[in-house]
Amino acid sequence: MKNMLEGIEEVLLMGPGPSCVPPEVYSALGRKTLGHLDPYFLRIMDELKGMLRAIMNTKNELTIPISGTGSAGMEASFVNLVEPGDRVLILINGVFGVRMREVASRLGANVDAIEFTWGTPVVPEVVGKRLKQETYRIVAVVHAETSTGVRNPVAEIGSLLKGSDTLYLVDTVTSLGGIEVRMDDWGIDALYSGTQKCLSCPPGLAPLSFSDKAMARLKGRRTKVPNWYLDLSLIASYWGKDRVYHHTAPVNMIYGLYQALLIILEEGLEKVFARHRQNHLLLVRGFDEMGLKMLVEEPYRLPMLNTVLCPGEVNELSLRRCLRSDYRIEIGGGLGPLAGKIWRVGLMGHTARKESVERLLSALRKLMG
Ligand SMILES: Cc1ncc(COP(=O)(O)O)c(C=O)c1O
Repeated sequence: MKNMLEGIEEVLLMGPGPSCVPPEVYSALGRKTLGHLDPYFLRIMDELKGMLRAIMNTKNELTIPISGTGSAGMEASFVNLVEPGDRVLILINGVFGVRMREVASRLGANVDAIEFTWGTPVVPEVVGKRLKQETYRIVAVVHAETSTGVRNPVAEIGSLLKGSDTLYLVDTVTSLGGIEVRMDDWGIDALYSGTQKCLSCPPGLAPLSFSDKAMARLKGRRTKVPNWYLDLSLIASYWGKDRVYHHTAPVNMIYGLYQALLIILEEGLEKVFARHRQNHLLLVRGFDEMGLKMLVEEPYRLPMLNTVLCPGEVNELSLRRCLRSDYRIEIGGGLGPLAGKIWRVGLMGHTARKESVERLLSALRKLMG
C-alpha cells in the first residue's frame, strides 16, 4: 500500500495557523514516549508550567496545557466558570468572538454581546458605559482577532473590571508568543491559547491559566462542571502535587510544546516580539509598493496576522491556489462577511522571518504582474 505521508511536501505556512514548525520541535515530538506518570515526565510537566507562566506573565498556580486545540481552551474556560443563568458579556468583532457567544450560550448563560464592526477594535469607552449600567459574572474578549487582524485593547478593558466581582476571560490563541501578554497586570482571570500560532508547535494543545479569583469561582459552583473531560478541578489534580490520573496526557505533544517554549524563551520575549513587528512592517511596505491596501488601520494592526484587501480584478481563491501549487506557500482567505474580500497572511512564530516575507512578495509580484 502506498504511504500517503511520503507525499507531504514542505509548505511555507503563512496562513492564519498552523505556522511553520522549527526542526527542534519536530525532533522533540519524535522522542521516546514516557509514561504519563513517569517521574522524569512529571519533571518535564513542572518545567513546562514555569515556561507557560513566563510567557503569559502570570504567577497563577493553575497554568497548564489542555489536551485539545485552541477551541478546547475556550470551551474549558467557559465550561468551568459559567453556571446556567449567569450573565456573560462578550465583546465581538470577528469570528472568534462569535464562537465565544455560541460556547457560553450552549452552557445556559444569559449572554449579552456588544458588537463592533469587523476590522475595527473593541472600544473601551463603549464597554465602560455598559458596565456602569449592568453587572456581569464574566466579560470576555479576543486579544488578537484572527479573522480580521485586529488587536483589541485587552489592558484597557481589564482596568474597567478591576476591583469588581466580574471575571475577565481573554482569548490569546493568536497573540501569545507574538505580542506582549501580561495576564496578572491586565487583571485577566481566565486565559487560553493554542500551540499552532506564535508558539510554532503543531496544533493539539491549549495553554490555559486561571487566576485565584477564577479558581475560587470554580470551587464555589452550585452545580457540577457539566463536562467531565474539561473539568479543571480534576485536571488540576493531575498537574498539581497529587498527580491523580485523569486522562492520559498527550506525552509527545507536551515534549513539542516544551521545546517550542524553550526556543522562545532562549531567544528572549522582547526579541521575539521585535522580530514579529519588523517582519510585519517589511510585509506591509511590500504590499504598499504593490498598491495593496490593508484592511485594518495602522494602530490596531496585529504583526502576526495581516489582512490585506484583494483587488477587484483578482480572483482571491485562484491566487491562493496558485501560491500553494506553484510556490508551496499557504495564505488564508477571509471568513464570514470578509470571505472573498481579503487575504490573511500569517507571520507567526517561526514563520516570522525575512525569508518568508521576501518569498511571498516575490511570488505575489509574479502572479499579479
Ligand atoms: C483567536 C482564536 N481563537 C480560537 C481559535 C480556535 O482554535 P483551534 O482552531 O485551534 O481550535 C482560533 C483558531 O484559529 C483563533 O484564531
